[in-house]
Amino acid sequence: MSDLQTPGARPANPRFSSGPCAKIPGYSLDLLSDAPLGRSHRAAVGKSKLAEAIDLTREILGVPADYRIGIVPASDTGAVEMALWSMLGARPVEMLAWESFGEGWVTDVVKQLKLDATVRKAPYGEIVDFTQVDFDKDVVFTWNGTTSGVRLPDGNAIPATRAGLTICDATSAAFAMDLPFDKLDVVTFSWQKVLGGEGAHGVLILSPRAVERLESYTPAWPLPKIFRMTKGGKLIEGIFKGETINTPSMLCVEDYLVALKWAQSIGGLKGLIARSEANAKAVADFIAGRNWIANLAVDPATASCTSVCLKFTDPRITDGAAFAKAVAKRLEKEGVALDAGAYRDAPPGLRIWCGATVETSDVAALMPWIEWAFDAEIAALSQAA
Ligand SMILES: Cc1ncc(COP(=O)(O)O)c(C=O)c1O
Repeated sequence: MSDLQTPGARPANPRFSSGPCAKIPGYSLDLLSDAPLGRSHRAAVGKSKLAEAIDLTREILGVPADYRIGIVPASDTGAVEMALWSMLGARPVEMLAWESFGEGWVTDVVKQLKLDATVRKAPYGEIVDFTQVDFDKDVVFTWNGTTSGVRLPDGNAIPATRAGLTICDATSAAFAMDLPFDKLDVVTFSWQKVLGGEGAHGVLILSPRAVERLESYTPAWPLPKIFRMTKGGKLIEGIFKGETINTPSMLCVEDYLVALKWAQSIGGLKGLIARSEANAKAVADFIAGRNWIANLAVDPATASCTSVCLKFTDPRITDGAAFAKAVAKRLEKEGVALDAGAYRDAPPGLRIWCGATVETSDVAALMPWIEWAFDAEIAALSQAA
């Protein structure tokens, strides 16, 4: 094993975690010096920072002017739960899932809200057939399955005119993929993903039809204050202007603003998508010529450009989970890839975050290390035999 030669170059930044994700290139805490620390988020300075975060989110993501954007508690999970608890129950529901997070939303709706939803699931690596979905029902899905690396290639299967609402968890897609807002009524994400921001704050984007639902429907179950978006049957508009429901971290807001301004500086959404796609391509190019590793996504058209999930396909591997864990551990020990193991509920393998904050040169530098760690573990297997 020890006679295997290590690759010459190392990634300058070994952070390939799928969340929290790598900070923007050149990041330093000094960039946060303008944070209004120790000031009220309701003071003019706090409000203007929050409003700026909303405005820049709209500009970069291309969110239509008549859609509301709110900063809400509890990260992406908080944003999704607010939508599920506040809007579902008004009409029939379809729940779509092809990995762990989507399945979590199925559990919430079926077991907690106890709604008699149609549930469509696909195994890891595949995606639900969207042509079968009834969009006259409310439909809940995850744009990019972070734990399987499978994404919707586009919104073509979603009709522009539909009676139901589409509720989309886009946390590992926003800022790395084109989101067709005309096809989406609720979009959620967290700052900790593609922009390398911090956890704890979620973003909730609502179409006019989603607002109409909030104003015309009261769920049968109680809603905690943290989920409430209406008062007296009217939307609390302040939430969507930066008057948050409870206290945000102004340090995290500043951090998000810094990331948004970096995004602007590299060409906005186009620049972000290009970086992410180039990173995913560096992985795809590497695995293309090798028969011992493959993308978990069965159809390349659905392969994620952010959470790229890989499986080992060598027939000599008998215990896939132990093998993949050992490879990830070896990469971590060498300091070339941190947090690159597959998600705990996903098939064994590696997950290489390729979001926009990651440098393509680092992804490219990591690839020979994966081969090195694979060879080392195969050698260990035959030594043990
Ligand atoms: C698709 C998806 N949904 C939800 C979450 C939960 O996000 P958060 O921890 O920001 O609430 C994640 C986190 O990885 C995710 O990937």
